[in-house]
Amino acid sequence: MPLNVIKHPLVQHKLGLLREAKLSTKSFRELANELGTLLTYEATQDFKLEDCEIDGWDGTKITVKRLAGKKVTVVPILRAGIGMLDGVLELLPGAKVSVVGLYRNEQTLEPVTYFEKFAGEIDQRTALVIDPMLATGGTMVATLDMLKEKGCRDIRVLVLVAAPEGVERVTSAHPDIPIYTAALDDHLNEQGYIVPGLGDAGDKIFGTR
Ligand code: URA
Repeated sequence: MPLNVIKHPLVQHKLGLLREAKLSTKSFRELANELGTLLTYEATQDFKLEDCEIDGWDGTKITVKRLAGKKVTVVPILRAGIGMLDGVLELLPGAKVSVVGLYRNEQTLEPVTYFEKFAGEIDQRTALVIDPMLATGGTMVATLDMLKEKGCRDIRVLVLVAAPEGVERVTSAHPDIPIYTAALDDHLNEQGYIVPGLGDAGDKIFGTR
């Protein structure tokens, strides 16, 4: 299923709080991370388990479940993706972080990479790409292209709010990559903001402007 809109009551409640115009930077950051945690929970439901024998509390051997050695990299897209990173790492503390930064060339309108630093053995990792807003989808598609060029085969996208235009662009370019979002909003306005959206997520996370 390429698009997964997470209807869990806690997700919807926290997203509702996040949309409040007068929210403080502190609260916005906390909620963005909490939603990052909840989306991670949803996006990892198919992770495989293996049996593992351990010493139980009374000295007997017991068999418990452990994650089956899955290697994960979290890929925040600068800068707003950083606002979900701690929340994702809360559930996946051993994950390596691969950072990507892109800007849009105003002449060609194409995304240009200005920073990339990928975790080792990236081709063997499950990549969780995080960005609060999936707007036009241009930077997301460029990031997914990069990850596939590096050999990544298991990629998942986690966003707080998605626009139909961005979902269409990502699913057309990468129909194999699932998107997990707290909301599929109405549309993009002329300035490229998602409506109703959250406003500029980067500014809200970093307290700028
Ligand atoms: N980036 C944002 O921060 N907000 C939007 O609405 C669209 C892109």
